[in-house]
Amino acid sequence: MSVENDKNQEKNRLFYENLYKDYPVSNIIHWVNDLDVFLKASLTTEASWFALYQGDLQNRLKGKKVLEMGCGNCVNASIMAALGAEVYANDIASSSGEIIKKVNEKITFKYPIKFIQGDFLENKLSSGMFDYVIGKAFLHHLRIPEERLFLKETARLLKDDGEARFFEPAVNNRILDEIRWHIPIKGRPSKFNRKAFKKWREIDPHPERSFSSRHFKKAGEEFFGEVKIMPVGTLERFSKFMSWGKKREKFKSWALNNEKKIPFFINKNLTRSQLIIYKNARAEKLGID
Ligand SMILES: C[S@@+](CC[C@H](N)C(=O)[O-])C[C@H]1O[C@@H](n2cnc3c(N)ncnc32)[C@H](O)[C@@H]1O
Repeated sequence: MSVENDKNQEKNRLFYENLYKDYPVSNIIHWVNDLDVFLKASLTTEASWFALYQGDLQNRLKGKKVLEMGCGNCVNASIMAALGAEVYANDIASSSGEIIKKVNEKITFKYPIKFIQGDFLENKLSSGMFDYVIGKAFLHHLRIPEERLFLKETARLLKDDGEARFFEPAVNNRILDEIRWHIPIKGRPSKFNRKAFKKWREIDPHPERSFSSRHFKKAGEEFFGEVKIMPVGTLERFSKFMSWGKKREKFKSWALNNEKKIPFFINKNLTRSQLIIYKNARAEKLGID
């Protein structure tokens, strides 16, 4: 792999190793033990969960082989295992492996979660073994040449009728994006504050690359016969300006359901995130580098 890819991977590893090193596994245990309550709340009000579980995914996972790339704090991997899936999970940060070890010790899943240590592109998994490949806020952490290798690997690992789902940020409107960079949020200074912004950029684990729906469509079409993009967050993004509480949760649930009614070309242009679904891997493409 190139020096730039290696640097980006190492930056991500260091950042997330540190972020997840003290992750409270008790949260995961609590949510798994209260699975229905957790699902009801997260699938209706949290954009990433709402998106990833579209089409009743929670009831389609039982007994299915699922691979999660970039599993991070392992909440989603644990929830999928609790829903009866046979979960394989990878992250470049070994703290994720530590979380999975503790979760497996505390919860008796039908299939304990299997952690795949280290660089996923070196995996020795057999072709066509997964029903689902999942990535939640993962692909956009890769540089584009690296992303291409992960998508190729996704196509190789999926069964013929398998499906890949990636929830990613969306930047389809440059003006909106520029406005966003100038509004400070917790942990990220405004672009107006040039010095602090530059310092923040140095440790931020996001490479500079396209997050556009057009990019994810084109990138997927190289290896898959079917690509679907669903914008998520066009209205929900305004919840950021509300204070925490029941009203905000109610607004988020309303927004996530109602923004689907916005015509696609407007919704796509204004959305803050997207669900990307890839199906029908193109077998003829898997021989190329
Ligand atoms: C934004 S976090 C998302 C974590 C988790 N999926 C979630 O939704 O909370 C991105 C994750 O991707 C992982 N990651 C970044 N580059 C990676 C790579 N090349 N291989 C595997 N994991 C990687 C990071 O370590 C991090 O855990």
